[in-house]
Amino acid sequence: MAKSIQMDELKMGVCYYPEHWSEALWEDDFRRMREMNITVIRMAEFAWSIFEPEEDQFDFSFFQKALDLAHQYGLSVILGTPTATPPAWLTSKYPEVLNANKDGVLYQHGMRRHTNYSSPIFRQQCEKIVRNMVIAYKDHPALIGWQIDNEFNCHMDVFYAVADHVAFREWLKDRYESLENLNQAWGTVFWSQTYTDWAQVHLTRNMVSQSPNPHLALDEKRFISANTISFAKLQVDIIRELDPEHWITTNGTFGHLDNHEMTEELLDFFSYDSYPQFATIFPGTDDNSLQDRAWSMKLSNVRNMSPNFCVMEQQSGPGGWVDSIGMGTPRPGQIRLWSYQSVLHGTDLLVYFRWRTATFGTEMYWHGINDYHNQPNRRVREVAQVGKEFAKIGRVIAGTTYQADVAILQDYDNIWDGELDEWHGPLQQQSVRSWYKQLQYRHIPTDMVTLQPTTTLDALSDYKVIIYAHPAIMTDETAELLQAYVSQGGTLFFGARTGYKDLRGHCYMRPFPGAVAELCGVTVEDFTLIKGTIPAAELQWNGASERLQEGTSTAGFNEVLHVEHADVQVVAEYTSEYYAGSPALTKRTVGQGQVWYYGAAYNEPVVDALLDEIELSSPVGDLVEVSSEVELGIRSGKDKAYVFLLNYSDQQVPIKLKKQAKELLSGTTLQNEINMPAYGVFIFEIDLPH
Ligand code: GAL
Repeated sequence: MAKSIQMDELKMGVCYYPEHWSEALWEDDFRRMREMNITVIRMAEFAWSIFEPEEDQFDFSFFQKALDLAHQYGLSVILGTPTATPPAWLTSKYPEVLNANKDGVLYQHGMRRHTNYSSPIFRQQCEKIVRNMVIAYKDHPALIGWQIDNEFNCHMDVFYAVADHVAFREWLKDRYESLENLNQAWGTVFWSQTYTDWAQVHLTRNMVSQSPNPHLALDEKRFISANTISFAKLQVDIIRELDPEHWITTNGTFGHLDNHEMTEELLDFFSYDSYPQFATIFPGTDDNSLQDRAWSMKLSNVRNMSPNFCVMEQQSGPGGWVDSIGMGTPRPGQIRLWSYQSVLHGTDLLVYFRWRTATFGTEMYWHGINDYHNQPNRRVREVAQVGKEFAKIGRVIAGTTYQADVAILQDYDNIWDGELDEWHGPLQQQSVRSWYKQLQYRHIPTDMVTLQPTTTLDALSDYKVIIYAHPAIMTDETAELLQAYVSQGGTLFFGARTGYKDLRGHCYMRPFPGAVAELCGVTVEDFTLIKGTIPAAELQWNGASERLQEGTSTAGFNEVLHVEHADVQVVAEYTSEYYAGSPALTKRTVGQGQVWYYGAAYNEPVVDALLDEIELSSPVGDLVEVSSEVELGIRSGKDKAYVFLLNYSDQQVPIKLKKQAKELLSGTTLQNEINMPAYGVFIFEIDLPH
């Protein structure tokens, strides 16, 4: 069942920190929020030392006042449990709650997220604060829901405290039952790593090189995820027991956490924190990077957990910490553009970060809507404009969901294994980026789908095309599911290094691509990493030779394919290197569908050619023609669909409406050639056929 937020209109909220301001400001703040159509605030997620200034001395009166006043102003409140910022009394009295680096050196008080999730004392302390907090506020009329913790695994997604090593062993005992099984799974006979006592088993530690046992390293990430989820569950269980009426969510997607599993098992819906301006300080390595538009891919991943979700923190000013993270100011129109980027991808509750920029602390340059001076500014005006627009369009958009015929498939095992393993991890990033960008530029809405043990054929068969670029870890069961997907009519793309590892991360003693070799009808004869001075071979399309420019290069890896079945078509060949003339890209028709195998990582020219080859184009090409810098996406309901156009460029761009259509934000009916303003947003309403 879809774990979606249930809203009957789009709502706007803001993160508010009453503890950072004089109480004299609250009333004016709340009044101005309502004037901007802000109706929700999130607060308290870092306020542990206010709730429990000394161990076991609880005082909930401060936030009680804030909640009362918020209620008086008609604001609804999301409360965060404060477990990301344990107070100084706690960490100094119980240092075992702190996280540690690989050498076991503790991370000290003074930032946030400085603890581990394993220490029994920390878990007890968290249970206590959460229980007391829920009892204090559960019946408050302003409360609408709970955010547990804040951004699990942000800042740090590895844990090496003593308690973590202990918890890891327990997790392993559960998984493997005996040391003998563990030794086998980790291949410890290699280099005499064999364990003879559980006490010898550790999470990765400092070694002579940063090349740990790869099977241990994969299990470490699985453990961190399971441990984080079990920590989240402590809190969720308490809230469900004491306050079954209110929803529970958490925010942010960070490393080593299976957010899909957590959402499925614990949450009512997932929430995301969207900061597209990170694109300007980490522009990425590719020439024509998607920049702020790349956040659409992240939002698409969230949508896979919750088709309708909450953005708990939407960037509303330049980000900046006192040290390294400082960024430029969003230009006029960009805050609004990014707000609709979130809405397009399924956000029904949009909460800005934050109401006013803090005048002190690590984040005093992380700007909110209001400046320090608290006078009107252009960011306030821009958010107020979004508020007005939400009031106008919110009822028709809420509850509609994003529509896509294409899915880029991924899974946690391969992501985590690929972090260490350069023989497949970097290929995945290269290919996903290339596919996503080309699909974006061609206005083909795309889902990011995580393959779970629970994924059904039904869920996959919604898609005409699936790209599962480099699933190095591949089981026979997954191969069967994919075969069924193709047989019933799907088009499936694989890339190099598919199918050569099992779930433990051992390499199979079978020809690549392992479990899908039969489906693809090819095997891999020879291969090379493309690295250093090893050149990538060039590629030539067979048949329609104009598909690729002469000299188009492959990327990342070259596999020399061997065709195993007469019905396999060689679509492209290598034209240089010692394997010139060998198959590089093949296609096979299986049942009603097609399966493609490419012996390299996908780059944009190759994806471009493939999209032509399979004749994939925008589903609303008969309505609108737009240039590539504009994102096109569709949210759809029962009778109507809403086509969003988002212009990420700082220039106006022409669009051509081939039919008359109503634009919701302006309320006007448009046709023919129109200019979209720089950073502009259009939402066209179209009728769905019955
Ligand atoms: C988020 C976090 C917020 C705030 C914001 C700006 O990651 O949840 O608490 O720190 O970033 O840095």
